[in-house]
Amino acid sequence: ARLVVLVSGAGSNLAALLAAHDDPAYGARVVAVVTDRPDAGALDLARDAGVASAVVAPADFEDRAAWDAATAEAVDVFGPDLVVLAGFMRILSPAFVRRFAGRIVNTHPALLPSFPGAHGVRDALAHGAKVSGCTVHVVDEGVDSGPILAQAAVPVLDDDDEEVLHERIKVAERALLVETVGRAARHGIHVDGRRATLG
Ligand code: GRF
Repeated sequence: ARLVVLVSGAGSNLAALLAAHDDPAYGARVVAVVTDRPDAGALDLARDAGVASAVVAPADFEDRAAWDAATAEAVDVFGPDLVVLAGFMRILSPAFVRRFAGRIVNTHPALLPSFPGAHGVRDALAHGAKVSGCTVHVVDEGVDSGPILAQAAVPVLDDDDEEVLHERIKVAERALLVETVGRAARHGIHVDGRRATLG
């Protein structure tokens, strides 16, 4: 299966997918990386892995809709079987989600539906949660609201700060994303209302 991965940051989740795709049994290959950030570290990972990449930066477009449409085109041109949002920090429009409906997954560093949004790690910590974790879900037209595919729990320790907790979550998150994307690529995603299953 052909994966197109959208990233905004360092790309450690992308790195995990690139490492996994070298295994022929994995059943999926990252064919392109698309980012909104010209300075994304993920671009170096793509280059080093010999994977195509595209930068679609909001500053280059007169408005949000134009950026969104350009991002959708940049993704579509690579013919994705599955679009993976791995640390992509922009909200994609309903039009974008509909275009790739049912074949976009996102990873979020909290146990949804708790702590959605751009600061899930910080919010869990501030709330005093004792357990947090990560969630891989199908992207729907809401924010972090689509049917859940997989989750992993991670303890919150008393002296955690946001960075320490996020790094602990990311260890579990990378493994969960690789495993879930591989299963989705090999067996497909089946959504029945709120329930999503693989294969
Ligand atoms: C991940 O924890 C992702 O869930 C969150 O931001 C982080 C991105 O990390 N949205 P990386 O860019 O994959 O290292």
